[in-house]
Amino acid sequence: MSFSELKARQSVMWGNGPYERITNTIRDIHTLIVERADPKPGEKLLDAATGTGAVALLAAERGAEVIGMDLAPVLVETAQERGAESGSSARFEVGDAEAMTYDDASFDVVTSTCGVMFAPDHEAVARELARVTRPGGRIALANWTPEGGLGQLFAMMRPFLPTPPAGVGVPFDWGREDHLRDLLGDAFELEFEEHDSPLELDSGEAYWELFSTSYGPTKSAVEALEPERREEFHETWVAFGEQYREAAGIVHHREWLLTLGTRR
Ligand SMILES: C[S@@+](CC[C@H](N)C(=O)[O-])C[C@H]1O[C@@H](n2cnc3c(N)ncnc32)[C@H](O)[C@@H]1O
Repeated sequence: MSFSELKARQSVMWGNGPYERITNTIRDIHTLIVERADPKPGEKLLDAATGTGAVALLAAERGAEVIGMDLAPVLVETAQERGAESGSSARFEVGDAEAMTYDDASFDVVTSTCGVMFAPDHEAVARELARVTRPGGRIALANWTPEGGLGQLFAMMRPFLPTPPAGVGVPFDWGREDHLRDLLGDAFELEFEEHDSPLELDSGEAYWELFSTSYGPTKSAVEALEPERREEFHETWVAFGEQYREAAGIVHHREWLLTLGTRR
């Protein structure tokens, strides 16, 4: 399968939602990304791989001129609806972070929250981030770390997911400082911060219910499995979630790396 076929599938998979239920569990990350990116009134900000637009909407509230872009048309539609409901000035469009349609140096700020890390060609994304950010402009990226909770969740899910084609970048490499220095260090002055976004739920069963009905990669995998294998996936997930039981429920710590960059 070529990368373009893979991305065509991913654009459907990520839209197999309702993704809003998942993105609501990382509001803390959205808030911190916008705080650290610090868009000023009138600055042009791109939120790449915006999903249903959470960061774009917050940035527009600060008076920035915002575009939210995502590969999944269904998520872009939801972002547009959310923007219209709240009277936001943010614009949303379908696009590919590996091949953006924007002019060179057209943004003061570029953000991405657990977003561009899922594009297969890391070098292409890095080239595009550098190309569209103006000299002196900023990037702020949130990426899950490989050892953290989301890395562990994907390791648990892997036997139940389709095997990715050869050569596809590992998403969680975007949570490693050395990988980011390789990808972005020539074009940006970089700084890193480590953070945690704990997910609190009643039980492993509640964790399964949330992701198997609302998280595109999990929901799509569940739909493709035979009933017996689906039940194995279910049982594996519940046991995974129950490892994180504390008195009142489960608390899954999800560590992530904040990358801040200034374009040289
Ligand atoms: C985990 S979601 C994060 C969405 C959003 N940033 C948030 O904070 O909720 C990953 C997003 O990356 C998008 N995505 C994956 N590959 C992409 C690509 N090549 N170009 C643009 N968006 C992409 C998906 O469609 C999905 O919306």
